Amino acid sequence: MDNPADSPKSLTESNPFLPDPDLLETLHVSDYQTIYDESIRDPEQFWGKIAEDFRWSRKWDRVLDWNPKTYEARWFSGSLSNITTNMLDRHIDEGLSNKVALIAVADDGSERVYTYGRIMDETNRLCHSFAEMGLKKGDRVTIFLPPTPEQVISMIACARSGLVHTVVFSGFSAGALKSRMEDSEPRLLITADCAYRRGKRIALLDTAREAKKAITSLEKTIVIRRENPDLELETGEIPFDSLLKKHASSGFFKAVDCTTDDPLFILYTSGTTGKPKGIVHTHPGYMVGTFLTTRWVFNIHNDDVFFCVADPGWITGHSYIVYGPLLNGATVLLAEGSPDYPDPGRWWHLVEKYRVTVFYSTPTAIRLQMRLGKQWPEKYDLSSLRLLGSVGEPINPEAWLWFREVTGGRLPIMDTWWQTETGMHMITPLPGVPLVPGSATRPFPGVVADVVNRQGESVAPGEAGFVIVRQPWPSMFRTVYGDPERYRKYWEEIPGVYFSGDSAKRDHHGLFHMIGRVDDVIKVAGHRLGTAEVESALVSHPCVSEAAVIGKPDELKGEVIKAFVILRKDAERTPDLELRIRQHVREELGAIAMPDEIEITEWLPRTRSGKIMRRVLKARELGLPEGDTSTLED
Ligand code: WT7
Repeated sequence: MDNPADSPKSLTESNPFLPDPDLLETLHVSDYQTIYDESIRDPEQFWGKIAEDFRWSRKWDRVLDWNPKTYEARWFSGSLSNITTNMLDRHIDEGLSNKVALIAVADDGSERVYTYGRIMDETNRLCHSFAEMGLKKGDRVTIFLPPTPEQVISMIACARSGLVHTVVFSGFSAGALKSRMEDSEPRLLITADCAYRRGKRIALLDTAREAKKAITSLEKTIVIRRENPDLELETGEIPFDSLLKKHASSGFFKAVDCTTDDPLFILYTSGTTGKPKGIVHTHPGYMVGTFLTTRWVFNIHNDDVFFCVADPGWITGHSYIVYGPLLNGATVLLAEGSPDYPDPGRWWHLVEKYRVTVFYSTPTAIRLQMRLGKQWPEKYDLSSLRLLGSVGEPINPEAWLWFREVTGGRLPIMDTWWQTETGMHMITPLPGVPLVPGSATRPFPGVVADVVNRQGESVAPGEAGFVIVRQPWPSMFRTVYGDPERYRKYWEEIPGVYFSGDSAKRDHHGLFHMIGRVDDVIKVAGHRLGTAEVESALVSHPCVSEAAVIGKPDELKGEVIKAFVILRKDAERTPDLELRIRQHVREELGAIAMPDEIEITEWLPRTRSGKIMRRVLKARELGLPEGDTSTLED
């Protein structure tokens, strides 16, 4: 299907999907425009009103203290709060102690159920352990765990103690874990003996041990023993279970009060340089933003079971498995493992078994399911579902329509556009608004987003431009850890507005149609990778002297990585060399960064100053016009 933005009067655009009248009653936002207009007339009043409902140790002096020179946005300045008070204490005091907060299903299908009361209890015990270790507000803690209750509880316990968690996706290699720890300098690491995927044991502790050798800031490591409860640990390693046992009757741990400047977490993401950036989020703004988007976009009710297929190791899991849903008192389903193991019906089976009502998935996962076939969703009773979501990369209309069809043909799909930096949904439908397949529709209330040219002027309908945000929003990142310069760059690319790095078109109705990244970031199956990061992994192979990486369109994964490499003069060109180079990247960075294709070449296009022109490589690869090559060296 063509991009609907290309043809002004296309069928989809003038005949959007209207909400099913039977569903309208359960969807509470049918009057988007009124709410939106009101929200941006006075954003401080809008967000302030939402914040009134939270528990604060001290209320704010100002809803927003914005410094247009440094681009520093201090939301709820003067306030004291802790996000976990609003996730746990408040709900428990309101009688939700026995409500299920978390259903965790492991790779082998075994299940563990945590009520709000139990999460509070284990969080408190862990907080006491942290205090006993002498950890202080602001200290960093690296969490390298598979998606399990311990991962979620570790995050919450850090937040409650005023410690700053940096969760590292458990699929990352020792090299990736090490560089993240070198940057954030944690005093504590929390890991496990192993993770499981497709029935296979993954030796997480070996990876963690290798990574932590060089980390001088690290004092202790807490280890969850999943496989062998008697596993012997090395010095400095403490079993998780012994800490829970030790503090079984230590009682309540009062949440540490945090200001608008106190970091809640650092999450590393790829940018245009070789070094991942530590995106910093703080307590009060992140709390208000993730709370409201979860509530409105997913229309969360008391009896919802919310299934988000992400891993808490990514921002989607931070905002929409852990913080947003628990702030709303919802029940979340957390699944370890893979969508096609033990069979391709896994996720549909989970929807049926746990009567999931809201299902938040990704375009790559949906396309994979399309390939595996309709017979899988058809085998299961999916009638509990009332709302769907998509995130991470543009969703093609075919996948959108298929997702809707196999789930009963009438459910609204929330195509949510946002980023690690934004913390919360930015451009997204709300249930009840007319939908166009493949469009993330319009900005969330309180968010002033636009598509502009280099000068920051709105472009005409149907024209591609840069996605920007003109005003601060509550859960925006506060800085790049240790690199305020890099933070300011986001606001200096087009002076005074937030530059997302994405391009889009708006159609004649003002709906956004996302296109993709305009910088050196590649999205592989929704995962964000920097070309420079992959290139530096490539050149660390003994046979490689230079490398350039591009993203190549792929029907399943959206994009895959193709690498062009120049070999060292003395490199021996064995038949398996390409494979070995690919494996090397996997070891350096992790499986998600492994190039699909390696092309050995003797020449790379460069500017006269020596910068590799990836744009030219990509154009040649795809048979497109090369554009301006006047700066090409010869
Ligand atoms: C990049 C951010 C936000 C959670 C997961 C990814 C792309 C994200 C969409 C969407 C088109 C999307 C953008 C963005 N992206 N959602 N609904 N439609 N593109 O977070 O790793 O920080 O990646 O993901 O390119 O810039 P992230």
